[in-house]
Amino acid sequence: MDIKHVLTADQFTRSDLDAIMARSLEMESIVAGGGSKLCDGKILGALFYEPSTRTRLSFETAMMRLGGDVVSETDVTFSSQTKGEVMEDTIRIVGGYSDVIAIRTKVKGEAKLAAHYSPVPVLNGGDGAGEHPTQSLLDLFTIAKHHRIGEERMRVAFVGDLKYGRTVHSLAKVLRNYDGVEVSFVAPEVIQVPDDYLEEGDEVHYELSDEVLSGADVIYDTRMQKERFDDMDEYHLVRNAFIFTPEVVGKMKSSATLMHPLPRVNEIQQAVDKLPQARYFEQAQNGVPVRMALIAEVLGL
Ligand code: CP
Repeated sequence: MDIKHVLTADQFTRSDLDAIMARSLEMESIVAGGGSKLCDGKILGALFYEPSTRTRLSFETAMMRLGGDVVSETDVTFSSQTKGEVMEDTIRIVGGYSDVIAIRTKVKGEAKLAAHYSPVPVLNGGDGAGEHPTQSLLDLFTIAKHHRIGEERMRVAFVGDLKYGRTVHSLAKVLRNYDGVEVSFVAPEVIQVPDDYLEEGDEVHYELSDEVLSGADVIYDTRMQKERFDDMDEYHLVRNAFIFTPEVVGKMKSSATLMHPLPRVNEIQQAVDKLPQARYFEQAQNGVPVRMALIAEVLGL
C-alpha cells in the first residue's frame, strides 16, 4: 500500500482496504494498551471549515494516541481566510507547520485542491456534498466486525438524504470492492442518490418498505442535510420521511446492523439505542483506530 493522500473512496483497491482494516485492528489494541509513540514529534494540522464533532476530535485523538501533537483551525471566522487569504496559501502555510493535514470544507472537490498545494499528506474529512472517505473506512471497519463482508451475500440499504449525504457516497464506492454486496438506496426522489454512485443491479426505492427492512443485513441511515438544501420548502417536505422507532427497527433481523454517521436529529429515536441492531455509537468510536491507521500510513510509519 502506498497512499500519499486520502481524498476519495475511489482511490482504494481491495488490497488497500484489507491492509487498512488489519492496521486498524492493530491500532485498536494500541488504544486499549494506552497508546504508542509512533508519531512522537509529528504534528497534525486540523483545518475544519464546517462544524464537526466526531471527525475532528477522532483525528486529534488518533494523533495524540500515537504520541503526536495537533494544531487546529476550527472556525473560519478566526482564520486569515476571512481577511482574503486563499485556501491554497493557507494549505502551504499549515503544511509548513505540520506533518499531515486533516481538512473539512464546504466545497465539493476542495480537499483535492488542497492536496495539490500541500507539501504534506492531506486527509479529506468531508468536502461539502462530495465525499467523506475516512468515514467510509470506519464504516467498513464496523461492518466487518459484525458481518462476513465479501464472503457471503449481504444486503446494504442506504436510507435518508442520499443526495447530499457524503458518507453514503464514499461508503457506496468502498462496498463495490466486495463480492456479494447488494446495495439499495431508499430516499424521496428529490434527495435520491446521484447517478454517479449508482451501479447496475442496485435497487432504488422511494419508501422504506417492510421488505427492505427485513431483508437488510446493514441499514445505513443518514440525517437530512438541512444546511445543503437550496429550497427550505423541499427540506420541510422530506425532513420526517423516515423515522427509526423501536417498532420500525423491530422489523429488521436481530442480527442486522443499524448504522448512522451521526449527528442524528430526529431520524433515530433514542429508544432505539438499546436495541441489538443499534451500532452507531460503536461506529463513531471506531473512528479513532481507523484514523490512527490512516495517519500512520500516509506518514510512512
Ligand atoms: N460523522 C461525521 O462526520 O460527524 P461530524 O460531522 O461530527 O464530524
